Amino acid sequence: MGETHSIEDRFQAFVEAENKVEPKHWMPDGYRKTLVRQISQHAHSEVVGMLPEANWITRAPSLRAKLILLAKVQDEAGHGLYLYSAAETLGTSRDEMIGDLLSGKAKYSSIFNCLARTPKEQTLRSY
Ligand SMILES: [Fe+2]
Repeated sequence: MGETHSIEDRFQAFVEAENKVEPKHWMPDGYRKTLVRQISQHAHSEVVGMLPEANWITRAPSLRAKLILLAKVQDEAGHGLYLYSAAETLGTSRDEMIGDLLSGKAKYSSIFNCLARTPKEQTLRSY
């Protein structure tokens, strides 16, 4: 008779064989939770990161500078939305992730808390 392997052992072997884990695959709860935490933290950082840039749009010294900032804000919003969508495929709603951010349970990259003195400094800081 062959050995009986637990579902956890089979998942571990699947990962160690460098197979691609998809959201609909069975995975340990902790593994799924870690993925959601990492992806949502990245999403939060993208969205929070666009806030200080957006703050400079009305104060940018030229229309060209305003357009650059608008494009950057739009780009970051897109990154955040894409990542929230990816996390949602793992079974956590966007509302829950945003709620965790607003309650302080979820984190984001604190580099975005540093205020810039000029729109140029803000743009350079975000790269
Ligand atoms: Fe981004």
